Amino acid sequence: MRFDVVTIFPEFFDTLDISLLGRARRGGTVSWAIHDLRDHTHDRHRTVDDTPYGGGAGMVMRPEPWGEALDAILDDPVDDPLVIFPSPAGEVFTQAMARELSAESHLVFGCGRYEGIDQRVVDHTAARARTRLVSIGDYVLNGGEVAVVAMLEAIVRLVPGVVGNPESLVEESHEAGLLEYPSYTKPQEWRGLPVPEVLLSGNHRAIAEWRHRASLERTKRVRPDLLPPDETPHA
Ligand code: ADE
Repeated sequence: MRFDVVTIFPEFFDTLDISLLGRARRGGTVSWAIHDLRDHTHDRHRTVDDTPYGGGAGMVMRPEPWGEALDAILDDPVDDPLVIFPSPAGEVFTQAMARELSAESHLVFGCGRYEGIDQRVVDHTAARARTRLVSIGDYVLNGGEVAVVAMLEAIVRLVPGVVGNPESLVEESHEAGLLEYPSYTKPQEWRGLPVPEVLLSGNHRAIAEWRHRASLERTKRVRPDLLPPDETPHA
């Protein structure tokens, strides 16, 4: 997988080289480039924003630097790129979307700041490449950078070969439509708190049943919206 990120804060992405993503890059499974939007400005102040037409608070990112930055990437695309603009006005990012995006060969992220990017940039991009607006949740961040780091971490770990033991991906929260069951490790007792007996039993069937029940109970309690219709508690 290849990804490109356009941002006015390239240093935000220095952390990508840590942990799993860094290992994936060194192993050759993933490659990326971070592009400074201000490299595509032509004034002394390297201006990227301006006041909104129609009035209102805040600043809007001007289209010209975005046009140039995206041309530099999309004029010479790797395969069939998918462009993602992180935005609180986008469709909500989920584990299912992470899985879908992990099968893409080229992702391009355009990080907006301020009140967003001039809509013509999105429209122009959508006319030349598959384009999506994606939100990581119903809250407002100062810009798309944190959203892109979060999305990349969720996406890249699903790229085949990135996580050593693919089985560890199967039982996670959201993969089975339920939240993950609680986990325990040694010691058997800690500060007077024992590990649930069944997990020490060696009875794989009983353990699987306990875990399923624990997943279901946890999901009912904190995320009833995730339950399949036949498990939904009646009001
Ligand atoms: N930019 C600002 N808020 C955001 C959000 N919730 N998701 C994605 N991008 C954003």
